[in-house]
Amino acid sequence: MPCTSSEELKQIMMKAKEYTKFGKVADYIPALHKADPDELSVAISYPDGNCLSAGDVKMKISLQSISKVLALALALMDQGEDHVFSKVGYEPTGDPFNSIVKLEISKPSKPLNPMINAGALAVTHMIKGESVQERFNRLLDFIRKLAGNPAISYCEDVAASEHETAHLNRALCYFMKQHGIINEDVERFIYLYTKQCAIEMNCLDLARIGLVFAFDGAEPLTKEQIIPVSVARICKTFMVTCGMYNASGEFAVRVGIPAKSCVSGGIMGAVPNRFGIGIFGAALDNKGNSIAGVKILEMLSKQYDLSMF
Ligand code: DON
Repeated sequence: MPCTSSEELKQIMMKAKEYTKFGKVADYIPALHKADPDELSVAISYPDGNCLSAGDVKMKISLQSISKVLALALALMDQGEDHVFSKVGYEPTGDPFNSIVKLEISKPSKPLNPMINAGALAVTHMIKGESVQERFNRLLDFIRKLAGNPAISYCEDVAASEHETAHLNRALCYFMKQHGIINEDVERFIYLYTKQCAIEMNCLDLARIGLVFAFDGAEPLTKEQIIPVSVARICKTFMVTCGMYNASGEFAVRVGIPAKSCVSGGIMGAVPNRFGIGIFGAALDNKGNSIAGVKILEMLSKQYDLSMF
């Protein structure tokens, strides 16, 4: 078993922490700018219920783009693969996550994959429910179940701050509404998406969700199949091809673990059939990934031979 004590994990974390000074906290969502760039925490969740952690693991972060993987799982369970992929594609973009450019030049005009903002908006649009509130509650319940933590909720400050500044996301929605990908009221829908991004948890919760993906959608202790195997497989594939933005190729070579990062500095990793990892480090590198978080994963992968390739 890799990394047998929290002390061992702490040593890796302390080495990685030296890199936080080379990163920057995200500033395009005002509420995220308040984060401390030196903050770093990591947790590993094993299938036997054991958990290792280092750093301030009580610290909560908003899920931001990590929520894209979870919304994708729910939309696939709600609507099935054929319907979901009639609205969003399978291919990496090589562009920044909020880029609008490929939406216009690809024919038909649908977002290239579910991990960029355009694709994630299209996916969240497909979550079933009678109202925005019901769709949000269904997603929140699903996430609570994945983490085995009924106390998970969302941060109102982050949701409000993002709602005020989500002009690019609104533009992406209006473009997609014109092209028949989205067919609901955009303003109301932006409330749903910004609340989804503001769902918050600590790195222990994140590691537990990673564990479920690592075990093909089943909670290893209870054996409950929370996500169908085929859906978990699709989500993990996107984590490999597009989970670390336009650094996913380099990450696959250097780390080789299905992972999804987000602008608040979180990374969720799923080491197939072994364990889940949750990391939080707010200082980001120039591609938008937690700079020290990526270092932790590089070190763990090298030291314990975790690459799936
Ligand atoms: O929509 C946004 O811009 C943010 N709520 C999420 C951005 C993020 O984490 C990066 N995305 N891939």
